[in-house]
Amino acid sequence: MKLSGNTILITGGSSGIGLALAKRFMMLGNQVIISGRSAEKLNRIKNEIPGIATFCGDLSEKENLLQLQKFIQDEFPHLNILINNAGIQYNYRLNEERDILAKIDYELACNLNAPIKLTSLLLPFLENQDHSAIVNVSSALFMAPKKSAPVYCASKAALHNFTQSLRYQLEESKVEVHEIIPALIDTPMTAGRGKSKLSPDKLVDEFLDNFKAGKEESFIGKTKLLRMLLRVAPRKAQSLLKDA
Ligand SMILES: NC(=O)c1ccc[n+]([C@@H]2O[C@H](COP(=O)([O-])OP(=O)(O)OC[C@H]3O[C@@H](n4cnc5c(N)ncnc54)[C@H](OP(=O)(O)O)[C@@H]3O)[C@@H](O)[C@H]2O)c1
Repeated sequence: MKLSGNTILITGGSSGIGLALAKRFMMLGNQVIISGRSAEKLNRIKNEIPGIATFCGDLSEKENLLQLQKFIQDEFPHLNILINNAGIQYNYRLNEERDILAKIDYELACNLNAPIKLTSLLLPFLENQDHSAIVNVSSALFMAPKKSAPVYCASKAALHNFTQSLRYQLEESKVEVHEIIPALIDTPMTAGRGKSKLSPDKLVDEFLDNFKAGKEESFIGKTKLLRMLLRVAPRKAQSLLKDA
């Protein structure tokens, strides 16, 4: 994909990886629209980055997904890149958590249902453009799950499979289907845990090299090693992140 002159929607663009992608794509001469739940965060970013557009809404809710689709239709019908990045991670033991059903529903709604639904709602716009792309942000945890976040790991494994299947569905179309598979990245999501974290900017560097070259799976940082290890020593590799 070309790196400038695009119209790009980045969900979860108000923080961490999404914000780093938004800043870089703005610098490269793209129209960028970011979404998030916090109006305060979005307004602060709007003041810092002239020209960036924002949409505020919780994407776990159908009404907000439909409003976002309408916003794109009315304001940015030339949308040609959708980056499904918004996500949350809950760490808990299933048998010790209060209000467990609501928590499971919310995590799956944010991490899995929202990207699938938004992809479906915005595909007509993407298919109308000469060059377009969908980029889903999964996780190394789809290859090697950790003990403390079973629902999160399941959501990312499912998102990975959805991405592959979508790629098959769109292989005759003009829409490229990309996936970013991050290692541990230094963002608010990982505050206070983990070592040797990569900066969000490093992730953006690696992803943009792959995106430009048309390489549809971006294994970031040590996820490249994990992927190789899974081939030669699958049991060892699968348990590597167990206590991460
Ligand atoms: N950081 C890592 O090590 C790592 C590793 C692998 C994968 N990932 C994935 O990378 C993506 C970005 O993570 P991050 O580390 O950058 O996290 P982050 O800094 O916590 O940012 C998450 C973003 O998603 C938005 N968001 C969350 N739930 C939402 C919802 N229901 N509706 C709308 N927006 C929502 C947040 O908006 P508000 O703040 O306004 O709520 C925020 O902009 C996630 O999908 C995550 O699973 C991260």
